[in-house]
Amino acid sequence: MVESFKFSRVPQIIFGPGKLKELPSVIRKYGSSVLIITGARSFESTARGKGLFRELESKQFAIHRARIQNEPSPADIDKITGNYLKKNIDVVVAIGGGSVMDTGKAVSAMILSGEGVKDYLEGVGTKVHSGIKLPFIAVPTTSGTGSETTNNAVISEIGEKGFKKSLRHDNFIPDYAIVDPELTLSCDPEITAASGMDAFSQLLESYLSDKASIFTDSLAVEGLRCISMCLLKAYKDGNYIEARTGMAYAAMVSGITLSNAGLGVVHGFASALGGYTEIPHGIVCGTLMGSANRKNVDVLCKEHKIKNALIKYGIAGKMFIDNKGKSDEYYARAFADHIEELITILKLPRLGDFGIKTEHADKIVDSTSLKNNPVSLSRADLLEIILNRI
Ligand SMILES: [Fe+2]
Repeated sequence: MVESFKFSRVPQIIFGPGKLKELPSVIRKYGSSVLIITGARSFESTARGKGLFRELESKQFAIHRARIQNEPSPADIDKITGNYLKKNIDVVVAIGGGSVMDTGKAVSAMILSGEGVKDYLEGVGTKVHSGIKLPFIAVPTTSGTGSETTNNAVISEIGEKGFKKSLRHDNFIPDYAIVDPELTLSCDPEITAASGMDAFSQLLESYLSDKASIFTDSLAVEGLRCISMCLLKAYKDGNYIEARTGMAYAAMVSGITLSNAGLGVVHGFASALGGYTEIPHGIVCGTLMGSANRKNVDVLCKEHKIKNALIKYGIAGKMFIDNKGKSDEYYARAFADHIEELITILKLPRLGDFGIKTEHADKIVDSTSLKNNPVSLSRADLLEIILNRI
């Protein structure tokens, strides 16, 4: 039975090892003046980065550059748009992890007007963006957030009144995503683990979401299969290009599924914690995945009326667990066990390692939304999830 659904557009996608070489010709489609945003890990100091910039210079592109060190704040975005407001930029390119791509996406959205981005953030500002922006090309160097295919840029401000909110519009879906898994070969195991668990949680949460459709499910299932086959291999051997390619695909698809189906309680916690203190997003999602999914499965097993999500947990569990011929409940529970084992193998830190204490749990739960979680969780359930990982 196919039920009704909506699906927003995706970028033009160029995917595969070595595909970075197509970037100059894609930039040329939009003009010759390009603003390139990179991150703290300094893509331009790598052999691939140096080669790219040499080629762009030899082809007479006017290259402007900006860097972003951490998850972008409104001030970071405003500073870059202010610097390049009147420079006749034709196209914005972001080459980096999720924070870099979010920065590029927000800059491409705000650079034409030069207005402050904070006024346009969901839940923070009151203005509605027209969607008119500069062309934007996303080139991920990690396999995690899937920002290369999403319609939002996550902007954070840390502090007492901190927030982690989105600048969102369907027009902000990048015009191009150039996904070259070779760019992820230099990711260290910690980044591979945290970003990989972010992609894993995004695929699983959008698959289980009450907004999921047959379209997003078909994408999410193959993305989850890539995670089951590739995450540990990429973690253990960073040069294993087939595993890196599987993870790059999983992350890219997770951006499409989350944009169209939404996310669950793990990302509800990530939003709440993101404005609270500086913890990398992938670590928050990864470290909470075990206790959050165990709680979801426990509630589902008690409330037999919501069968669909339990069946989906069973389908996902079978991809990760060898045993055959068991019940959905068996696979769902074994899957929750498996996720917790994975968190241990990947050595994901606890929230306490970033200064979160048990006395902070109440305040964090106060601002945690269930988003599109497949089951309703009580305040006590949420407290249990977070206290398990402090
Ligand atoms: Fe995420």
